[in-house]
Amino acid sequence: MSRRERDGARDRKRGAGAPVTVTVCRGCCCGTEAKHPGVDHAGQYERLRTAVGSAGRVRAVKCLDVCTQSNVVVVGPSAEGRAAGGRPVWLGFVLMDDMIDEIGAWVRAGGPGLADPPGLLDLQLISVSRRVREGLPE
Ligand code: FES
Repeated sequence: MSRRERDGARDRKRGAGAPVTVTVCRGCCCGTEAKHPGVDHAGQYERLRTAVGSAGRVRAVKCLDVCTQSNVVVVGPSAEGRAAGGRPVWLGFVLMDDMIDEIGAWVRAGGPGLADPPGLLDLQLISVSRRVREGLPE
């Protein structure tokens, strides 16, 4: 294996070029009519996907184990953002369309490590335990 191939393999292993990842909890509480009646959860998921566009990727996962703060969204840094010091940012009580739009704007601006959260999004920041943080799917 050449040096270039080794460097490429190492960069791929580190997630070089990885985009901002928006993880949307859709478990027993987040995204449910029972917990948050009157919220168009499916519509908000699509709104988020549209707002993020090609600037990142959006995925839904099962319960992230902080149900009391549902709906929970985690914005993970891109590879560039991580290199600049960005770390996954946990947001709670994401129930309003404005919040969805601000998440999209943040991702388009570069996300964690490269841009500050816009508008009032910093009010949605939640702190989670290391056990919960480490449970976030890769
Ligand atoms: S369902 Fe989202 S944290 Fe439990």
